[in-house]
Amino acid sequence: MSSITLQALSKSYGGTVTVDRLDLDMREAEFLAFLGPSGCGKSTTLRMIAGLAMPDSGRILFGERDVTRLPPYRRNAGLVFQGYALFPNMTVAGNVAFGLQMRRTGKAETEERVRRALELVRMAHLADRLPRQLSGGQQQRVALARAIVYSPDALLLDEPLSALDAKLRAEVRSELRRLQQDLALTTVFVTHDQDEAISVADRIAVMSAGRIEQVGRPEEIYAAPASLFVAEFLGMSNFLPGASDGPGRFRLASGQVLGFGRTGARARGATLAVRPENIRLSRGAPAEAPGDCQAVDAVVEEVLYRGSLVEYRLDLGGTRLTVHRQNGDHDRPEAFARGETVTAAWRARSAILL
Ligand SMILES: Nc1ncnc2c1ncn2[C@@H]1O[C@H](COP(=O)(O)OP(=O)(O)OP(=O)(O)O)[C@@H](O)[C@H]1O
Ligand SMILES: [Mg+2]
Repeated sequence: MSSITLQALSKSYGGTVTVDRLDLDMREAEFLAFLGPSGCGKSTTLRMIAGLAMPDSGRILFGERDVTRLPPYRRNAGLVFQGYALFPNMTVAGNVAFGLQMRRTGKAETEERVRRALELVRMAHLADRLPRQLSGGQQQRVALARAIVYSPDALLLDEPLSALDAKLRAEVRSELRRLQQDLALTTVFVTHDQDEAISVADRIAVMSAGRIEQVGRPEEIYAAPASLFVAEFLGMSNFLPGASDGPGRFRLASGQVLGFGRTGARARGATLAVRPENIRLSRGAPAEAPGDCQAVDAVVEEVLYRGSLVEYRLDLGGTRLTVHRQNGDHDRPEAFARGETVTAAWRARSAILL
């Protein structure tokens, strides 16, 4: 396995900068997800790491080895790209063996490695099937086996699960994570799905317009987004407009002043963000108000039953405020009806200035 370092990596297509002086240090055996909207340069970055696209400038290191100008086959990286086409006229075992045969591996060793790779992805019992006799998830696992069979130094995955339905995706995703940990594979995973990135990666690099906006552990990025862009991309939904009003103070358009606990590293100071699960509703003043309680009055506009939770959509002087209340039989919190005026409260430390 090897660490991966990107230094000031840049690439333009037809005068448009696609990847812009990107720096990144990955540890050995780390699982890193590139997360960002369509067109932000995720695939281009991955293709440069794989050797399928040549950077205009910058360097790529695998461990101490400068691979910037090496062709793909000399980088020893396993690749799985979206679509992951298997050879349709070859069996599962044949598909997995193909890369080894290209590398002139001996017959006995090839058989042994293919068997082990298929066992790792739990496909050994289907080794003699053709791809069309497999489900999408099974094909996906074969593609993974094909990528890991020659003990790559790194695994490079571009939206490898996007063709699967939600249930299968979650299944293959946890298999992938297990495999990556068992083999201690340095893995780069490209996705535009925040849930996927959060549940699978050691660290997430959030990309926007060819640059990394923020890189950190999922819980860091979730709890402390550096910018409005990152917060929005990670599904944060409450953004209160206003203006910073001195240290730790934020003034809403209504004139009400609220406290907050944190300022994003790239904050512009015009938005206060609070997660829906951090807001409590009550009629009148909140019953157990902690010292740093912030409260606003708002009108219930919609009540949506969402299975494990109830979502309240409130109107706060023209701004939408979404509140999630967990369902469960351990307590019976008050229910609120459409049209009611309620108090929405949260702790200052759970609000972030962005
Ligand atoms: N070979 C190419 N020739 C010209 N332009 C390209 C090429 N590859 C990518 N681009 C452009 O570079 C930009 C970034 O593309 P890239 O494929 O890296 O985006 P992405 O983040 O992977 O998006 P998606 O989530 O849609 O896959 C896009 O505007 C794209 O049109
Ligand atoms: Mg892409």
